[in-house]
Amino acid sequence: MAKSRILVIGATGNLGYHLAKASLDYGHTTVALVRESAFSHPEKSLKLETLSNAGAKLLKGSLQHLSSIIEAVEQVDVVICAIPAKQVLDQKLLIRAIKQAGCIKRFIPSEFGVNPDKVQISDLDYNFYSRKSEIRRAIESENIPYTYIACNFFTSFLLPSLVQLGHKTPPMDRVKIYGDGNTKAVFVKESDVAAFTISTVDDPRTLNKVLYLRPPGNVFSMNELVEIWETKIMKKLEKVYIPEEQLLKDIQETPYPNNMEMVFTYSAFIRGDHTYFDIKSSGGLEGTELYPHVRYTTVGEYLDTRL
Ligand SMILES: NC(=O)c1ccc[n+]([C@@H]2O[C@H](COP(=O)([O-])OP(=O)(O)OC[C@H]3O[C@@H](n4cnc5c(N)ncnc54)[C@H](OP(=O)(O)O)[C@@H]3O)[C@@H](O)[C@H]2O)c1
Repeated sequence: MAKSRILVIGATGNLGYHLAKASLDYGHTTVALVRESAFSHPEKSLKLETLSNAGAKLLKGSLQHLSSIIEAVEQVDVVICAIPAKQVLDQKLLIRAIKQAGCIKRFIPSEFGVNPDKVQISDLDYNFYSRKSEIRRAIESENIPYTYIACNFFTSFLLPSLVQLGHKTPPMDRVKIYGDGNTKAVFVKESDVAAFTISTVDDPRTLNKVLYLRPPGNVFSMNELVEIWETKIMKKLEKVYIPEEQLLKDIQETPYPNNMEMVFTYSAFIRGDHTYFDIKSSGGLEGTELYPHVRYTTVGEYLDTRL
């Protein structure tokens, strides 16, 4: 079977670049819709050069310009969008273009986090997840074939400091642990998220489904993360437990958007939004079960790079 042709929107961004690279690595004809300004940006133009040298077709355009979206969409079978969370509603014009083009076999919208329909923090959402849910409903009401990727946290988010908010490096003496430290969260490296995402595009099992990533070796509580880190640095840390009420107070007292890291920490490590439900009985699929051949970086391997 011929591999689908894939359009990546956001290829100059963090995740989008990995998605475009993985698409090329897996042998898909790959097209990127790129905003004009990126071509003269030092880092973004380098990314574009790498992608172009690897065979990607670069089309100038933007999610604000319907004609450029339609031109791009008409050249492919699959659309993957990786624009930033605060802009997800900009996908409405893309949904219109996909509907109009009528050729798209799969749309993967910009989500790549916690399942927005399953988070339990509606009072602290600040429209973060509600906008992603709104895009889901727009896709479903247009009967556009989709796959939603619920990869939970990227390893580049919070894990570099071992979830020490406001810090860039992991703790060496004292560590803050939110709640009782026993609720498990999930971290997956962006390039692995991309590999699992690209694996879904021609897979009929993932049509109109949520693909979760909960790789064995990447699902840990704060207490477990601290234990792994202590073994690596061969030192016991002083533990400071921050009760749920204190974290909630800090969230309320910190202005948006500076409080969002706390909100995500609360969601993952106190409410358990990454792991509180069973994937199969909720109708979802798990990436490492479907694609056991995808070699991914474990949290332990990632933390080795932080030593
Ligand atoms: N799970 C996690 O821990 C985690 C962490 C971060 C992000 N995420 C999710 O990952 C997804 C991607 O985020 P990211 O951080 O990788 O994004 P990013 O690095 O900010 O990149 C955004 C990309 O979108 C492009 N873009 C923005 N507006 C556009 C428009 N109007 N038309 C065309 N392209 C446009 C940007 O192009 P330019 O180069 O022209 O600006 C850039 O290529 C989001 O859904 C986000 O919620 C998840």
